[in-house]
Amino acid sequence: MKVTAVSPANIAFIKYWGRADNKLFIPRNNNISMTMSGCKTVTTVELGDYGRDLIEVKFFGKDYEKLERKTIKQENLYDQVERIRDMSKDKRYVRIKSENNFPADAGIASSASSFSALTAALLVVYGLKEKFFDKKELSKEIRLCGSSSAVRSVYGGFVEMIAGKGHEDTFAKQIADEKYWDLVDIVAVLDPEKKLFSSSDGHLLADTSPYFETRIVEMQDRIKRCREAILEKNIHKLGPIIEEDTISMHMIMMTSRPPLFYWSHGTVRIIQDLYKWRKEDNLNAYFSIDAGSNVHVICEKKDAKEVRKRLKKNEFVKWTIYNEPCQGVKIINKHLF
Ligand code: DP6
Repeated sequence: MKVTAVSPANIAFIKYWGRADNKLFIPRNNNISMTMSGCKTVTTVELGDYGRDLIEVKFFGKDYEKLERKTIKQENLYDQVERIRDMSKDKRYVRIKSENNFPADAGIASSASSFSALTAALLVVYGLKEKFFDKKELSKEIRLCGSSSAVRSVYGGFVEMIAGKGHEDTFAKQIADEKYWDLVDIVAVLDPEKKLFSSSDGHLLADTSPYFETRIVEMQDRIKRCREAILEKNIHKLGPIIEEDTISMHMIMMTSRPPLFYWSHGTVRIIQDLYKWRKEDNLNAYFSIDAGSNVHVICEKKDAKEVRKRLKKNEFVKWTIYNEPCQGVKIINKHLF
């Protein structure tokens, strides 16, 4: 039996950077995101007597390649397969094929979509369907594969990851579904190449910044205001919150030891353009930046055409990816092999 899952990536309005528990992948802070309709991963899995687990991945614009246990992320993927098989009665190996429709590992959208699609497909193929259908359980299972941002792709729309004290109380919760608010995320792709320093490594450095504890304290009020702004559908309130949190997270990155600096010329140019467009043209678009130089521009759907047109004129922008809020991870009938 083949099982295929499709999952969107998501963009964090309140970012997760730094962990409270490195084994259980528990973030230091609650984080909030929106799913991205234009950035998806499709993963097909099948059990069989293959002699070992086989993972093949097709990254955006590239051919299929076999994954071995070479990086932390790849280790995490294989460990996730073993962990889920250990919970099931079926001890067969699994063949996995996975495709991304956007450049991975470039801070465009974290590996959220691949980890959530993989976990969902594995739970179903190994007969652990109850863990797939119970979204809270599914979010906890996804977290254990090492990408906490993936936890937020369980639900559609606007989602909060609750950072608890342990495994049981750390899970995803939906704030509002994908139909609730016509917000869009236009990704300005400046550099589609793999980032030099992964988020997995970055989380381990967060507490070497002298400002990390300050971030954790000052963000508590922002989390509350972010939730409110989404429920009120208030872009004038949400936009500044998204920017504040991006700046706060990048300040931690830039002041950790060693420091991490992800921005490029193009990143700063877009930040400055957005300030100008808001002030002079009343165009309400706001930036969010993950662990990479690419910029997510968040605005209401009514302004998306104008924002996209302007971004495309920017000399540093290679292309743009349009995203609306969409459904979370789900099982589909169209298989990759
Ligand atoms: C900067 O370790 O969850 O995107 O890099 O996809 O594994 P991956 O992500 P994760 O860290 C996410 C870091 C972030 C902020 C965020 O999405 O909350």
